[in-house]
Amino acid sequence: MAKTTTTYFCQNCGYQSSKWLGKCPECGEWNTFVEEVINRSDDKKHGIKKGEKKALSTPIHQITSEKEERIDTRNNELNRVLGGGLVRGSVVLIGGEPGIGKSTLLLQTALNMKGLRILYVSGEESQQQIKMRADRLGTKNENCFILNETFTTDIFLQIESVQPQILIIDSIQTLYTNTLDSSPGSISQIRETAGELMRLAKTTQIPVLLIGHITKDGNLAGPKVLEHMVDTVLQFEGDQHYGFRILRSVKNRFGSTSELGIFEMRSGGLREVSNPSEILLSQRDEAVSGVAIAAMVEGQRPMLIETQALVTNAAYGTPQRSSTGFDLRRMNMLLAILEKRSGFKLGTKDVFLNIAGGIRVDDPAIDLAVVAAILSSFEDIALSNKLCFAAEVGLSGEIRSVAHVESRILEAEKLGFEKIIISKYNLKGLALNRFKIEVVGVAKIEEMLTELFG
Ligand code: TYD
Ligand code: MG
Repeated sequence: MAKTTTTYFCQNCGYQSSKWLGKCPECGEWNTFVEEVINRSDDKKHGIKKGEKKALSTPIHQITSEKEERIDTRNNELNRVLGGGLVRGSVVLIGGEPGIGKSTLLLQTALNMKGLRILYVSGEESQQQIKMRADRLGTKNENCFILNETFTTDIFLQIESVQPQILIIDSIQTLYTNTLDSSPGSISQIRETAGELMRLAKTTQIPVLLIGHITKDGNLAGPKVLEHMVDTVLQFEGDQHYGFRILRSVKNRFGSTSELGIFEMRSGGLREVSNPSEILLSQRDEAVSGVAIAAMVEGQRPMLIETQALVTNAAYGTPQRSSTGFDLRRMNMLLAILEKRSGFKLGTKDVFLNIAGGIRVDDPAIDLAVVAAILSSFEDIALSNKLCFAAEVGLSGEIRSVAHVESRILEAEKLGFEKIIISKYNLKGLALNRFKIEVVGVAKIEEMLTELFG
């Protein structure tokens, strides 16, 4: 009789324990341990059975290096985030909140890759639902097969008969394997089914795209081990109320993690946005106070984005500080710098900050635009809408240089801006006569104030 073994898994990080624990020693979360039954068959034991091939070690210089072969996904934004296309035999995990468009993105990509056999396995929607979505997207691909299945053995049988060149799984949390007794979506099932798909990808060279759910605090649901196992982790994010969607690379064994893809969700599917500034700048003719444009860089791409601030007298004793799309702690730091170094009385003010378009920005070069937007709202003086900023602000109020300053200037010039304020330290080595746009270097916040308000 098979022995039943149970183990407790932390549902947050995948930590394994033989007994129940209140607090996970790995991630520190409380009450996350769940008992899971694991019935491993004997062939999983270590050691090599007769007839099985042993792996041999090879001196590194004798290993032939192969250039990884990439499949063009016919989607420039997705290609860019993947590092130039989908690598054969790689496993890509795409995470995102429910309803953000993960299924749409992958179905649309599958339909667009004409000439390639694709198997789209869905455990979430019926074939009819997927067909309806495909009709809505309006593209056809006779080589795209839809399978409604969650049991991995049956999926592997279908893979053998369909012989796909690309496999899509929607989603990893719905799959289950019979080597384990725990329910689909549990840590051990996710780990096991993902492991089976990994082996498939590595042995057959079929690239596998996995969709993964994320938890309410924004992490990929299921164990961190999933992120460790796969080659590439992409995060699909955006604000439900805006049409813009951003595909970020969080981990990529075959490319840079600083790349970014931008899409717009439309009634007929996702549209690639090749010129992001077009959506991130609001079209308005007259200048209003509290708005400043930052020339930021995401990945290798420069784009201009609008920062908006509202500074008002605090209605309650403790002033409110709120920020969307920008780190709140960093905004508080900038407010403290303005208060201490430049004497602005912001301590009794409510300050609200918003990055237009519903996107989240990490580039420190938008600091100066944030400061300018706050001061513009504080003074109620509008800044010219032909002016933009690109610099970091240091704790002593100094304006620090940033990377890729040339591409930022060129992007601003291309979009018709007339003046850009950067750090004085960025001016060195910059051939200013190359630019038609006026480039101003400042070293301190006071210098910027004179530039802005005279
Ligand atoms: P979906 O891909 O189902 O999200 P996920 O798989 O990440 O849960 O996306 C669903 C949302 O996208 C839904 O709210 C409707 C919207 N949508 C469009 O706006 N246009 C379209 O063409 C499609 C197919 C969906
Ligand atoms: Mg879905």
